Amino acid sequence: MLKENEIYFKDCLEGMKELPDGSVDLLLTDPPYNVSNTTKIVRNGGKFGKAKTIDMDFGDWDMRTEMNGLTKANFPLELPLNCIDLLSYVGDVVLDPFSGSGTTLISSEMRKRKWVGIELSEKYCKIAMNRIKVVSEQNVLTDYGVV
Ligand SMILES: C[S@@+](CC[C@H](N)C(=O)[O-])C[C@H]1O[C@@H](n2cnc3c(N)ncnc32)[C@H](O)[C@@H]1O
Repeated sequence: MLKENEIYFKDCLEGMKELPDGSVDLLLTDPPYNVSNTTKIVRNGGKFGKAKTIDMDFGDWDMRTEMNGLTKANFPLELPLNCIDLLSYVGDVVLDPFSGSGTTLISSEMRKRKWVGIELSEKYCKIAMNRIKVVSEQNVLTDYGVV
């Protein structure tokens, strides 16, 4: 069974099975793109030649994302902070099944939520744990206190 305030180095499809029913209040995540080798993205040209509709087929979700450039893929802190403020309460449990470098988890810690992270890359699990340690040790609770 997965415990709160931990990051699990595993495939989220396996990890989420270990979460008890009703144990998560908010799922906030940033999944990788092009995760299936059967991915198809179809753009139909609209006015001015720009894409109007996009159909995606993620197939069986059967391929791991590439790790290169992950630091560019992590989202800015204010994004999860705003979502957490709007969509959860102090003490709630926030799950990020693609936790990467831990931006959602850090935001949860800053907002006094409990959190669970699941991540396929051991390297990014460690990066995330270090970032969270800084927040909790320094008790940094301002929006921009952590990089
Ligand atoms: C776009 S990144 C997330 C970035 C994150 N929001 C951050 O702030 O760093 C997506 C992450 O999903 C992870 N991932 C991909 N497939 C996964 C899976 N099946 N289970 C768990 N994590 C997975 C990748 O290793 C990557 O770190």
